[in-house]
Amino acid sequence: MESPRPDRNIALELIRVTEAAAIAAARWAGRGDKNAADGAAVDAMRIVLSGVQMQGVVVIGEGEKDEAPMLYNGELIGDGNPPAVDVAVDPVDGTTLTAMGRNGALSVIALSEKGTMFNPGPCFYMNKIAVGPRGRGAIDINASVRDNLTELSKRLKKPIQELGVVVLDRPRHDELIGEIRECGARVLSISDGDVAGAIATGWPNSGADILLGIGGTPEGVIAAAALKGLGGEIQGVLHANDEDTRIKAEALGYSFSKVLTTDDLVASDNCFFSATAITDGDFLRGVRFTEFGATTQSLVVRSRSGTVRTIETFHRHNKLAEFSTAIF
Ligand code: FBP
Repeated sequence: MESPRPDRNIALELIRVTEAAAIAAARWAGRGDKNAADGAAVDAMRIVLSGVQMQGVVVIGEGEKDEAPMLYNGELIGDGNPPAVDVAVDPVDGTTLTAMGRNGALSVIALSEKGTMFNPGPCFYMNKIAVGPRGRGAIDINASVRDNLTELSKRLKKPIQELGVVVLDRPRHDELIGEIRECGARVLSISDGDVAGAIATGWPNSGADILLGIGGTPEGVIAAAALKGLGGEIQGVLHANDEDTRIKAEALGYSFSKVLTTDDLVASDNCFFSATAITDGDFLRGVRFTEFGATTQSLVVRSRSGTVRTIETFHRHNKLAEFSTAIF
């Protein structure tokens, strides 16, 4: 018998997963220890994931089994009952942001029908272009920066000078940043966290209109799931930062010139995405601890229905202890 398709209830289960991870990571916010923040989030995420009704396989996780004891690529997760799904997790997107107490760190998960999620394999980096719903169809990763910004400005009916372009602040983007500024647009530089950067392009009044530049491939797949639900678009081209990666990946059949569309990254129209803010961001407020517990803000998106929910949750102390290993 064919496995049932994931239904709408799973979206709310996923919020519990990212809430748990965000709270655990937030205990470490500003403490200068990114591995501890990530480890706490992984532990918490895994505990809650084990109770979610699904036959999940981790397509994007913490890495290969030998270096990731939990949520490793290929790991089976969930309670073992249908539906069969592909799962991408990033317990902390922005480990340094969290450790430094900076804005923009999210805990995220994306889920889609089995066999529909792009597997990044050894390809760590991807060149990306992403826009929200109003910009969909106006971008082309093979076109110049100027052409893309010109088309987008027409589509959004605002001058190029008013476009906000999200770019990861990296030396590899010096030329890109120069080109954007030459066109007259504004660069919204982020030090990390391009999942949040991509979502911001689809978020009303965030100030971000487009994301450009090279970031993580796993983050690109996760952003595709989010943008699918938000009605936006992402295109990516895998980027090899060294010759070894290129040789290894090409032997496995990966191409470093093929344009990966939103549908190539997440082929199913039935995908789910949940994010909970660890630290404050453009569209969600980070975790707040109070004498009674903690509050979280999350975003949950379901592509088939196009529903976008923001959910604020209050968590009591005694419940938090179940999935938080950090004690202060
Ligand atoms: P981590 O949370 O794993 O540190 O990743 C943060 C991040 O900024 C991603 O959002 C982004 O896609 C990637 O790192 C960029 O990689 P690099 O820091 O190597 O340029």
